[in-house]
Amino acid sequence: MSDNTQHNGNAHEKIEKNVGLMAVLIAVVVSFGGLAEIVPLMHQAETIKPLPGVKPYPALQLAGRDVYVREGCYNCHSQMVRTLRFETERYGHYSLAGESVYDRPFQWGSKRTGPDLARVGGRYSDDWHRVHLTNPRDVVPESNMPSFPWLAKNELDGKEIAAHMHALKALGDPYTDAEIAKAADDVAGKTELDAVVAYLQALGKHAPRGG
Ligand code: HEC
Repeated sequence: MSDNTQHNGNAHEKIEKNVGLMAVLIAVVVSFGGLAEIVPLMHQAETIKPLPGVKPYPALQLAGRDVYVREGCYNCHSQMVRTLRFETERYGHYSLAGESVYDRPFQWGSKRTGPDLARVGGRYSDDWHRVHLTNPRDVVPESNMPSFPWLAKNELDGKEIAAHMHALKALGDPYTDAEIAKAADDVAGKTELDAVVAYLQALGKHAPRGG
């Protein structure tokens, strides 16, 4: 018994005095936790299968999403309703993984200087969004959201959006060649403001009903 204790003590001492060995062993131990939590998620149908009706973003919405990411809207807006009563009463049904399978990168976030936007689609008119994005104070006098007046002036680049869809298809998103071929036409003459509004109006469209 005492021999055994002695033996273990030596092993510990060896590890604790050898930083390199300790680092490797810590990495091994920590990776068990990661494997146990992450690997099952990658195979659970619930987390990788789109909810009914959830499809890759149409060209105009995809362009709007790009602008959303570029402008850093996620710095103030999350897109994830948590499973808490006061959240579901305010925003609607809590978010499900199957709603964001085509979000690369996802926009869940946790920073809420402004309200969560996961369920904002259909809450306001297109016109309201246009005015609000151009100068929030025109519709919400106490708002401290920045103005984005350039969105109405910047025209979309159809080629860039087609290329983006092409890249997403290579990653496995089920875009058809026909959808990609008409992307440039879909956004012809449209501005970044049109695109962001189209994107916002589609948010939460496929969420389950009720709280
Ligand atoms: C510096 C923080 C900040 C940034 C960046 C920001 N917002 Fe906001 N946003 C707010 C705040 C605060 C409100 C609440 C007041 C208001 O309605 O203007 C808000 C409100 C909103 C609303 C109304 C939500 C609701 O349910 O009433 C929408 C839609 C919105 N923002 C979209 C955007 C988009 C799109 C962008 C990026 C182009 C953006 N925001 C960038 C702070 C921000």
